[in-house]
Amino acid sequence: MNDELHQKIQDTIAQPKNLGEMENADAVGTVGSADCGDMLRMWIKFREEDGRKVIDKASFQTFGCETAIAVASLATQLIQGKTPEEALAMDGAALSAPLGPLPPMKIHCAQLVEGALRQALGGAPAPVAAPKAAPMAPTLMDSFGTPAATKKTIILK
Ligand code: FES
Repeated sequence: MNDELHQKIQDTIAQPKNLGEMENADAVGTVGSADCGDMLRMWIKFREEDGRKVIDKASFQTFGCETAIAVASLATQLIQGKTPEEALAMDGAALSAPLGPLPPMKIHCAQLVEGALRQALGGAPAPVAAPKAAPMAPTLMDSFGTPAATKKTIILK
């Protein structure tokens, strides 16, 4: 990662925007990254504007890296005022555009944000893997607190 990108990410996460749960959200999307195991949840609230349904506000929580936090912060700002269709037209590269091009090893971090957005808006599946269908926990932290349905025992010979 080059110094300029690193600094932009640091500047963005120093004061992340729209961080946290949103009460009375109209839509919620949660995805996990098959690449790194991180998770991100995005909440969206709509409003009517000139007879159109547009995104009023969005917020996020994540167990993700600094890049994912920065992209999510930017994405929640970039999609404000857009219709769901306009927001769905934005891929990870568009959502992370203010940071500049991401290195290949960080592209999936932006795709995590794209995935949560797509899931919330009911769009086509994102390039990141969605978590297995399970009842949605009230918070992202609760998602990790759910005991596994089965336990596996590994016996070393
Ligand atoms: Fe997991 Fe960035 S390394 S989201």
